[in-house]
Amino acid sequence: MKSLISIHDFSKDEMLYVLQCAAEFEKNPCQTLLAGKVIASIFFEPSTRTRLSFETAANRLGARVVGFSDAKNTSVSKGETLKDTIKMVANYVDLIVMRHPLEGSARYAAEVANVPVINAGDGANQHPSQTLLDLYSIRKTQGRLDDIRITMVGDLKYGRTVHSLLQALSLFDARFKFIAPPELQMPAEYKAYLRQKGLPFEEHTDLNNNIGDADILYMTRVQQERFQDPIEYEKVKNSYSLKKSMLAKAKPTMKILHPLPRVNEIDAGVDDTPHAYYFEQARNGVFTRMAIIAYLLNAR
Ligand code: CP
Repeated sequence: MKSLISIHDFSKDEMLYVLQCAAEFEKNPCQTLLAGKVIASIFFEPSTRTRLSFETAANRLGARVVGFSDAKNTSVSKGETLKDTIKMVANYVDLIVMRHPLEGSARYAAEVANVPVINAGDGANQHPSQTLLDLYSIRKTQGRLDDIRITMVGDLKYGRTVHSLLQALSLFDARFKFIAPPELQMPAEYKAYLRQKGLPFEEHTDLNNNIGDADILYMTRVQQERFQDPIEYEKVKNSYSLKKSMLAKAKPTMKILHPLPRVNEIDAGVDDTPHAYYFEQARNGVFTRMAIIAYLLNAR
């Protein structure tokens, strides 16, 4: 029994296998490989894309979905622990998809549950299914995963998607640029990880002069919900706003990714440029999540 809690839970070969399956699901999205299975979608934090694309993926595979999108309507509000909640849910279903605000909660859930668990985001830590759909989007738009130049922009401190993606792309010899205000820089542990792998990275605060050499411009939202002090959020909330005029020097093949939701870090004027790919990226989430669920449940 295998869970997907951190991107490190999948080897490079497993990632490539999932991406291959995702491409097959994109060509033929209605394959009822999981008829008779039940999947729990339990979200202790808000979500639009992750929850709905996982539930769509499960439905397209022929599984049924149970769960909640607001723990206030569950016995958690009566004081039930995460451990007991997970043990109960695991009694009823074949696989659990969980989002929770606490870092490490998904790993804990996987230890308690006797069914596979997929981490749909645990605090500022990891979001591995997002990473697989990001890899799928990168390969689809660039025709390769090796030797990608990626510029990550915004909240690199609390943005769990960039943490997982950095680790995955390190398997494919990516070159990184990190663009963030001093308060939101990539945490030291991830930079140490790249140094250990011998992979180059640059850090900047200016966005305008760091677009031209990118294959992928990965924008992120400042994660308001992770700030203890609202004044600190106010200081950095408008750090970057990508505008159409800033794309003049971009490579013609450069694509802009964003895990979404966006607030104001990508101006709506960018949406109709050939560089914008974030809505297609979100659509790719369904095929990728079909592939992840099918793989973890051994449905071939
Ligand atoms: N990308 C992502 O995790 O979006 P949601 O928060 O809407 O699920």
